Amino acid sequence: MKYQFPEAFWWGSASSALQTEGESQPDARGETTWDRWYQQQPTRFHQQVGPQDTSTFYQHWREDIALLKQLNHNSFRTSISWSRLIPDGTGEVNPQAVAFYNNVIDELLAQGIKPFITLFHFDMPLVMQQQGGWESRAVVEAFSRYARLCFELFGDRVLHWFTFNEPIVPVEGGYLYDFHYPNVVDFKRAATAAYHTVLAHAQAVRAFRAGQYPGEIGIVLNLTPSYPRSQHPADVKAAHHADLLFNRSFLDPVLRGEYPADLVALLQSYDQLPACQPGDAELIADGKIDLLGINYYQPRRVKCRDSAVNLQSPFMPEWLFDNYEMPGRKMNPYRGWEIYEPGIYDILTNLRVNYDNPRCFISENGMGVENEQRFNQNGQINDQYRIEFVTGHLKWLHKGISEGSQCLGYHMWTFIDNWSWCNAYKNRYGFVQLDLATQQRTVKKSGEWFARTAVDNGFNE
Ligand code: BG6
Repeated sequence: MKYQFPEAFWWGSASSALQTEGESQPDARGETTWDRWYQQQPTRFHQQVGPQDTSTFYQHWREDIALLKQLNHNSFRTSISWSRLIPDGTGEVNPQAVAFYNNVIDELLAQGIKPFITLFHFDMPLVMQQQGGWESRAVVEAFSRYARLCFELFGDRVLHWFTFNEPIVPVEGGYLYDFHYPNVVDFKRAATAAYHTVLAHAQAVRAFRAGQYPGEIGIVLNLTPSYPRSQHPADVKAAHHADLLFNRSFLDPVLRGEYPADLVALLQSYDQLPACQPGDAELIADGKIDLLGINYYQPRRVKCRDSAVNLQSPFMPEWLFDNYEMPGRKMNPYRGWEIYEPGIYDILTNLRVNYDNPRCFISENGMGVENEQRFNQNGQINDQYRIEFVTGHLKWLHKGISEGSQCLGYHMWTFIDNWSWCNAYKNRYGFVQLDLATQQRTVKKSGEWFARTAVDNGFNE
């Protein structure tokens, strides 16, 4: 069977500034929370590799864009580093950063590759964090100034903007589960940070609309369909709660312009609602997007709690549900995440049926592999598992499109193996293998496969 995708489908991959750029000396960019955390606690990072050890895109941008071209990308997403552009978050603009991002954008366009630009991919300028990070309304203001500056500088050429990448991840990591700075565990503070992130997003959308820049603006959300263990009402309710907290807390504001009433009621019942100000509802309503990026890696399996919660302990999401290890589920043996290809179709169907079928694309999907070097044959990584992973997801994506979903493209995570936060280089995801020591790049089998698929706009099976 031929899986043919719509004309002008976006084929490409995604990456981010801090994970690839390098050049993190003080005169090149301001410190981020990651630099500081790494200095303080290097052992929290896999093999103690920190954010300075990258594929050095800051130097190798021309060579890497040539590789993107070789892999027949027609689009590519990366982020601008706030701390490179405005080292202290609010003050002077760094002219070297402007020149660098101009070079990247111009070269992408010269090679026929559409630049998709994210404004915030986890890399909070340290100064902004010291002023409260997303818990602070002042930082919300500062973000919208930064966003406006990006639109002014690059908006004549960048036609696809994304305010945030996976905004829930810094909230979960930084305020609930201790895998991002500032390593707090406090639900109310998490809810406040999440709420302010939505406000920051909406202010940036307002600025974009007010400036009448060409192109469109969206956000990238990691959506994890929540499947209940059974149809027992208690399991179904648990899955609904997980969905409200981890998907709809961002999805509803950006697509419907408001929070789900049952999420608000739920948080209110546990006294966990963040403080609002007059005008917030109107601002959130103005934050509706033109284009949704969907990151999909794995679903969430949920069951009701088997034991009562300790009401003396601080409130946590796990009061409302338990994660469920479904027997027989298919696992990625090299990363420990479930592989469930129909999840991508379920996301598209949910969006089509319940959210008025928004314009969207798959902005990340990918397979992380530990010790991937073991699959090296004659100097090349033979990652047949990754080709199977991608084709499996593309088939379900194709079905979603054939049923009417407005899914406009598919981007893989990621282009070149990159530094991945606390996991550093533990799990490799790239189409291109990176030798960190020599900086040598070698296209994997999956990269060659992707190049053919992109040029054929589909594949046969
Ligand atoms: C994605 C993030 O969710 O997961 C990336 O957008 C990250 O920034 C990727 O690198 C892979 O994560 P990990 O933990 O498997 O290395």
